[in-house]
Amino acid sequence: MKTYLVTGGAGFIGSNFVLYMLKKHKDIKIVNVDKLTYAGNLENLKEIEGDERHVFVQADICDREAISKLFAEYDFDYVINFAAESHVDRSIKNPEIFVDTNVGGTVNMLQCAKNAWAEGEGFKAGKKYLQVSTDEVYGSLGDDGFFMETTPLCPHSPYSASKASADMFVMAFHDTYGFPVNITRCSNNYGPYQFPEKLIPLIINNAKQKKALPVYGDGMNVRDWLYVEDHCKAIDMVAENGRDGEVYNVGGHNERPNIFIVKKIIESLAGKYDKTIDESLIKYVEDRKGHDRRYGIDPQKIKDELGWYPETPFEKGIELTIDWYLANTEWMERVTSGAYQNYYADMYKGK
Ligand code: NAD
Ligand code: TYD
Repeated sequence: MKTYLVTGGAGFIGSNFVLYMLKKHKDIKIVNVDKLTYAGNLENLKEIEGDERHVFVQADICDREAISKLFAEYDFDYVINFAAESHVDRSIKNPEIFVDTNVGGTVNMLQCAKNAWAEGEGFKAGKKYLQVSTDEVYGSLGDDGFFMETTPLCPHSPYSASKASADMFVMAFHDTYGFPVNITRCSNNYGPYQFPEKLIPLIINNAKQKKALPVYGDGMNVRDWLYVEDHCKAIDMVAENGRDGEVYNVGGHNERPNIFIVKKIIESLAGKYDKTIDESLIKYVEDRKGHDRRYGIDPQKIKDELGWYPETPFEKGIELTIDWYLANTEWMERVTSGAYQNYYADMYKGK
């Protein structure tokens, strides 16, 4: 039986990963560590309530004592580090917490794992630390080309700078101590349980309420969208079979300009929810500072080496996502009550 330490497993991708893994593998144990910031939500894990293979621990990945205690209690085979501050707009307003959690937290996780897994001159067999990173560390593309694993890191936002720093520490641990690691760098995810500060759930939620749909700049910035379950599958495969010390880019060649995404959501909601939802809701607003123009992943390495491929085409994934938000209005109401109101008012004021 394999034992996983998953961090950030009450957030968007982390909770999808925990649910995916427990469905896919019968004989595993997951210890799920999450600080439960505004982005973490135990409701995301409701489906697995009572499942003895899952243990939830509320803790901060920066907390040396709490994390080393877990390593003393469990013999982890894998650490999968999802925990992070993840929203670019928030990083522009308040970069420090991004350094604390994304860089400091990662180094703390690495140190705790390194201490626990040490054996003789090296490390116990079969152990692996997997850092969940992002294509945003590569910076921005022009009209052509794709991010490869060999593309130099060139982050622009405080968020991507913190993720790139974390990646560098992960590789430094590998190169300096021979510590067993992988890094995955995925493109933009979408799907159930995504917090409505991110484009897709924010647009679905606003459109349902006939509120303005804020589109930054000219709406022609391009993101490469991947259904969250395909990302979870990639992480599982890299943990299992990724070559030590390697980076794997994850993406499904699904590049779309933001305005296309917004119009697609309007069209779908008009068809299945309320036919009076239309493009008059679109509001072009002031651009994000330092807004990266285009992201696009070349996933050839993970396809060739591990046989990964994306299973959910965008046309299907976006409908599944919209249907999930339509069916989970209470989830949305709960996460958008309270602090979200202040966040939204502040972020979009004057826009
Ligand atoms: P999210 O913001 O939805 O979730 C982050 C989770 O981490 C939350 O549950 C939060 O409570 C927890 N957390 C935050 N600070 C913590 C701390 N100090 N200690 C413990 N837990 C803490 O983020 P997400 O979109 O699920 O992203 C997960 C990971 O995937 C991040 O590392 C992110 O950089 C990466 N990633 C995200 C995307 C995307 O499109 N969302 C794409 C590629 C990579
Ligand atoms: P986001 O979901 O924040 O992800 P990321 O910045 O990590 O790519 O944003 C996706 C794209 O959508 C990005 O180009 C910014 C744009 N965007 C808007 O146009 N309006 C919005 O209200 C938000 C949140 C994002």
